[in-house]
Amino acid sequence: MSAPEPSKTEQRKAEHVNIILKENVSAEYDFWNDVHLLHNALPEVDYDEIDTSTNLFGRKLAAPLVISSMTGGFGGGREINANLAKAAAEVGVAMGVGSQRAALEKPELAATYAVVKDYDVPLRFANLGAPQLVPQGSKREYGADDAQRALAMVDAHVLICHLNFLQEIVQPEGDHNARGCLDAIRKLATRFRVVAKETGAGISHDVALRLKRAGVVGIDVGGMGGTSFSAVEYYRAKKDAYALKERLGATFWNWGIPTPASLQLASVGLPLIATGGVRNGLHVAKAIVLGASAAGMAKPMLEAAQESADAVVQELRAVIEELKAGMFLLGCRNLKELSEKTAIVQRPTSDWLEAAK
Ligand SMILES: Cc1cc2nc3c(=O)[nH]c(=O)nc-3n(C[C@H](O)[C@H](O)[C@H](O)COP(=O)(O)O)c2cc1C
Repeated sequence: MSAPEPSKTEQRKAEHVNIILKENVSAEYDFWNDVHLLHNALPEVDYDEIDTSTNLFGRKLAAPLVISSMTGGFGGGREINANLAKAAAEVGVAMGVGSQRAALEKPELAATYAVVKDYDVPLRFANLGAPQLVPQGSKREYGADDAQRALAMVDAHVLICHLNFLQEIVQPEGDHNARGCLDAIRKLATRFRVVAKETGAGISHDVALRLKRAGVVGIDVGGMGGTSFSAVEYYRAKKDAYALKERLGATFWNWGIPTPASLQLASVGLPLIATGGVRNGLHVAKAIVLGASAAGMAKPMLEAAQESADAVVQELRAVIEELKAGMFLLGCRNLKELSEKTAIVQRPTSDWLEAAK
């Protein structure tokens, strides 16, 4: 008997992973280069006593790192999630799975996400998209029961509700109704611990305030500067000869608020996760100085997970060593001391902070 045809959602998930691994889908400018930290020539710290551990949403982590929400919902997603989860458990960092819509639609795909439960990941995030919480044409909207199923599927501690309207508007089959999302997030937040997460276009001060009032427990700023989903959808549209969407993808390739600027703008008294273009431990140190509680990495972890769980462990350990080296050169023994340092922020990132005040 031949295997059943993959659904459109499964095909899309596989295409995202393939495009991100093969094509250049990064924003053009590295905004972390605008952020500088003041070297301390007399650090008076023993490198071996530097402690990178932290507590995020009540869970103890060995380092302020999150393997960002990426995948599940297609055949290849299971092995990627297994490799990521095995490494997250071994190193002691947090991990999210990708949007679980695919498994809510087709329960036989649940195992591609649920595999993370086989590993002792200290902080696990479930994932649902905000656009799916409101009516989209004839599609059914998701509510508290679906959120409960998503959380149980991966035995998650926190539910991430992702905001991805840039992707939706460029994507040929995207959901275009954004009305009612905040209300839907507010409803979920009365029952579950919800983190709102952008996926590459950042969070402004006003949006951060609205999310805080809606009751979220944290914000992943998901800023511009790393993987651009406009770029990803550009390649999908190009392959399908969908000229208008290809054009939209190119036009909005660099759309959004840069991650370092978004960290400062979204500072509203909630824990912040800095995702978007984080590529090494020095970026993580800069993020903590700018107000993040942790930093998230997606693409570098996907690349390693394609190889093996060991490759993910190696990448995570290298990032932690870089973070520790940065803390050493700043004279910081722990993350609290790091968070009290000041950053020198140059243009164009400083212009963002000035203009968006
Ligand atoms: C293959 C892939 C799939 C993704 N799918 C999701 C998703 O389902 N939900 C979500 O919140 N973010 C998703 N993201 C976005 C990432 O979590 C992250 O915000 C973004 O890639 C920026 O991080 P980076 O520059 O380190 O890649 C995905 C990223 C990748 C690379």
